[in-house]
Amino acid sequence: MYLSLDGNARAVPDSSTPRPSDLRGPDPKEGFTVHQPNRRAAAFTVAALAAGVLAACGANEESGGGSDETASGGATIALLLPESATARYEAFDRPLFEAKIQELCPDCEIEYFNADQDETKQAEQVDSAISQNVDVMVLDPVNGVAAASLVADAQAADIPVIAYDRFIEGADYYTSFDNERVGELQGQALVDAVGGAGDILMLNGSPDDPNAAQFKAGAHSVIDASELTVVGEYDNPDWSPDNAQAWTTDQLDTIDPASLAGVYAANDGQAGGVIAALTGAGLPADQLPPVTGQDAELAAIQRIVAGEQYMTIYKPIKVEAEGAAEAAISIVNGEEVADTTDFQGVPSLIHDPIVVTADNVADTVVADDFWTVDDICTDEYADACAAAGLS
Ligand code: GAL
Repeated sequence: MYLSLDGNARAVPDSSTPRPSDLRGPDPKEGFTVHQPNRRAAAFTVAALAAGVLAACGANEESGGGSDETASGGATIALLLPESATARYEAFDRPLFEAKIQELCPDCEIEYFNADQDETKQAEQVDSAISQNVDVMVLDPVNGVAAASLVADAQAADIPVIAYDRFIEGADYYTSFDNERVGELQGQALVDAVGGAGDILMLNGSPDDPNAAQFKAGAHSVIDASELTVVGEYDNPDWSPDNAQAWTTDQLDTIDPASLAGVYAANDGQAGGVIAALTGAGLPADQLPPVTGQDAELAAIQRIVAGEQYMTIYKPIKVEAEGAAEAAISIVNGEEVADTTDFQGVPSLIHDPIVVTADNVADTVVADDFWTVDDICTDEYADACAAAGLS
């Protein structure tokens, strides 16, 4: 999938699909030949002299620089995402963030990194961003707890950090969705779908991801108070769909798949693995128990339309990514980020998650242009789409 300039989802690329160059900032490697250790300080001095009237994009032009300096003299913003196995990061978070930065500050440069779920790699990427003297870092950590020291390193180099989607203690700002609410909504949807007593499996996210603990706590708060019985539970080390499938397949050695009343899967990637395991164990696709998810991935929306997955959580990533881009530009401008609330002592922008079932695909992800009917209703799903009134 790529995002058009208006930020709308259009198509799903395979990993070889080139990204549209018009969504990218200038190649950070170009125009970054001169390091200016005091660039931020220079920008703030200019701001002071200009009696508080500071435009991020132009500020650095005042700071001089040699002929090698980037033509724009704009600020540099680092975006560091955790992995690429979950579709959202490369398909939505990155392009939406980059497009918003480009819109707000055409002269700004973006240094982009993806850690591929590797904590050590992310630490190196943070080091690299620090040595490139970026002006602000937007960091979605592989390991939320360990990332506190990465934040401290950046701050020691006078680089403010926005914790993106996953909380990091000590960050200057934090933005995410209400993650405990995500878990509650998933749990409540499952309880309602089962509509009584029954055995369920629970697949949670990575123990290193602070969101995973919040999803799990929210889900348990509802499930534990219901008539459902958790007969197996798994904290999936890296959110991997393959692990989810393998673990569920193992469970089904001793549990009759037909006896399961439902499965709590914390995200869509895992839901896909669970459904593959259930059908692999012999359950017909039209007899699957309700399975939850999160992220409103295209494959999950298609499974929902086809009746194979019960629900997902749609998090309008546009709001989160664009909010983070606006916050980054505010920071570069030396301004307070507006409208924050407190989350564990960090000024935060927290957004609301939305439940998606077959009943409201049209009113949610389609209405938002997160996915178009054409995206969802491929030949394979044409009948299901017609039955759901989607085509
Ligand atoms: C969480 C994130 C989810 C999902 C998951 C898997 O932290 O909030 O939206 O993407 O990671 O990577």
